[in-house]
Amino acid sequence: MTTHAKSRPIRCVITAGPTREYFDPVRFLSNPSSGKMGYALAQSAVKAGWEVHLISGPVALSCPEGVVDYTSVTSGEDLYKAARTAFESCDVLIMAAAVCDQRPRVVDLTKQKKAALPSSVELVPVVDVLQELGKVKDRQRLVGFAAETGDLEAEARRKLASKHLDAIVANRVGLPGSGFESDINQGLLIDGKGKVQSFGPERKEVIAAWLIEQFMLTFF
Ligand code: CTP
Repeated sequence: MTTHAKSRPIRCVITAGPTREYFDPVRFLSNPSSGKMGYALAQSAVKAGWEVHLISGPVALSCPEGVVDYTSVTSGEDLYKAARTAFESCDVLIMAAAVCDQRPRVVDLTKQKKAALPSSVELVPVVDVLQELGKVKDRQRLVGFAAETGDLEAEARRKLASKHLDAIVANRVGLPGSGFESDINQGLLIDGKGKVQSFGPERKEVIAAWLIEQFMLTFF
């Protein structure tokens, strides 16, 4: 099935990096995502001739040349708003961002003094961006990532089904030489029909180019 007009480039939204949920102006909850995988995907998608909108959490990387739209976000809610708007006109959304799953219920607008810090903080869930987009997608293809320390394939399959995805990239985190901060990645690509392909260990740039090629073959 063709999901975009052949006469124009494939429009792609890629999310990358971590999100941050602030407790007060100087403290936040987050994760160690470097954004390297998402940025490498953006670079490869540009090289493949796709029109790329990159939505990025706070990272120490510069926007790859050729990206047509760049939105910088901080919180999960910011990311949701940007992705939801961009989703309408895209053909494929690749959700490589590591969204921080919880946020403090109460945010202080002034810096809390060390001596007055609470011993516990009430946390509430952050919107599941992919889950929400999965509910409203029609022609768009939706690609998720799964960051796992346990059963990679079973967890990825669960997320593929529950978030209504067209493909999922599952990678191991918490091991040296793979995942969040590494230049190297390895894992599994599972498509909507359940086909599993393993990749890596290999540099994220190489994996990104291979993934874009696979999406091209499967989706368009
Ligand atoms: N994701 C999202 N919004 C969230 C959390 C995750 O859109 N609030 C997306 C991630 O960007 C990723 C996919 O969902 O593409 C899976 O994220 P992951 O952290 O692996 O899993 P979770 O859905 O958070 O589930 P669990 O904590 O059970 O592993």
